[in-house]
Amino acid sequence: MVVKAEGAGDAPRRVTIFGSTGSVGTQTVDLIARDPERFPVEALTANRNVALLAEQARQLRPKLAVVADPAAYADLKEALAGTGVEAAAGPQAVAEAAERPSDWVMAAIVGAAGLEPTLAAVRRGACVAFANKEVLVCAGALMMEEVRRHGANLLPVDSEHSAIYQVFDFDRLDSVQRLILTASGGPFRTRDRAFMAAATREQAVAHPTWEMGAKISIDSATMMNKGLEIIEAHFLFGVPEEKIDVLVHPQSVVHSLVEYVDGSVLAQLGTPDMRTPIAYALGWPARIPTPAERLDLVKAATLTFEAPDPERFPALRLARAALQSGGGAPTILSAANEVAVQAFLDRRIGFLDIERIVEGVLGTLPHRPLRDLSAVRDTDAEARRVAADRVAALAR
Ligand SMILES: NC(=O)c1ccc[n+]([C@@H]2O[C@H](COP(=O)([O-])OP(=O)(O)OC[C@H]3O[C@@H](n4cnc5c(N)ncnc54)[C@H](OP(=O)(O)O)[C@@H]3O)[C@@H](O)[C@H]2O)c1
Repeated sequence: MVVKAEGAGDAPRRVTIFGSTGSVGTQTVDLIARDPERFPVEALTANRNVALLAEQARQLRPKLAVVADPAAYADLKEALAGTGVEAAAGPQAVAEAAERPSDWVMAAIVGAAGLEPTLAAVRRGACVAFANKEVLVCAGALMMEEVRRHGANLLPVDSEHSAIYQVFDFDRLDSVQRLILTASGGPFRTRDRAFMAAATREQAVAHPTWEMGAKISIDSATMMNKGLEIIEAHFLFGVPEEKIDVLVHPQSVVHSLVEYVDGSVLAQLGTPDMRTPIAYALGWPARIPTPAERLDLVKAATLTFEAPDPERFPALRLARAALQSGGGAPTILSAANEVAVQAFLDRRIGFLDIERIVEGVLGTLPHRPLRDLSAVRDTDAEARRVAADRVAALAR
């Protein structure tokens, strides 16, 4: 479980951003660029979007810019010529960037590719703003053990977990009755299974309230995103699966709630703008201003809530079953989901094939205990192989 500790107040904070070219990454850059004296930049990383990474590097003047894809190195070096910003490439270089001295690290890579850099930042006791939920899903117990051992701080960036963090009583765990994660319901909230079976990539990425990267947008459409968030909340707050509920709330204004044993329910609210939870982590424990639209409850007028429908969205059940099963089951769930979502984005399989593949891989592979990181890597790789075979069998 994450423990609230003293932070740096409003002193300058040296920052590194993993996944700076993505949706969370660009919004983090937006906030940092508003106060460059307070937030000097050590390193920025991307996968292969050289043009945007170089533009960010010219603006923020980090010491280092890294692309994970080695094939993008020559372009990055050329794009940074004359800036004095060092260029590097490859997954190893991304992980090494995490070892460099910065006070605050934004973990905003998508998928299990973020495991090594997040771990490297944790192991040097950094303050890690944590968006990359797949890392906790694939290696939650081991990651939290490393957080404790190295005295690192994990500050949740997912809006739901940021909300819980802000109203969670870390000193009186016994007083927490349950966590309630809100979910927008995604673009198919009111659609039937026949509609989903024929859904296109364009329909599935069109999220009603949040603008996000492609993978998390598809996860929102299947509601696997909420399943991953149940697992993330379990590891972050040390609350068992049966005490974590999901509530569909289409307006995305109430970002999540904590119910206490006396019947009190505490929530955090705001307009749906990721810069608010990012700023909470960036300034923590101080609060910093953001340009996010203010919440006007009179204008919002009606906030509605519904129970989730596990029949139409079986991903919720799959994620709960994986968490209950424990060991490598969440690792298998997340790896198979990553492969299936990419195949859907590549238009190789249908929308409902995503859940079929995840359920099939979870049912095929043994859920072995994960004793160390090499067991995590092996389980992840095996699940990806089996999922890829299933994609090939289903591909159009
Ligand atoms: N977007 C949101 O509003 C939101 C909200 C809550 C949580 N999250 C979580 O935050 C994480 C990032 O989401 P996102 O929406 O920002 O994703 P995104 O827009 O797809 O951005 C992903 C970032 O990771 C980089 N990347 C991709 N593959 C990589 C690899 N193999 N190695 C190193 N870097 C790699 C990308 O670089 P390129 O640009 O070069 O491809 C990009 O900078 C996800 O885990 C997501 O679940 C996102």
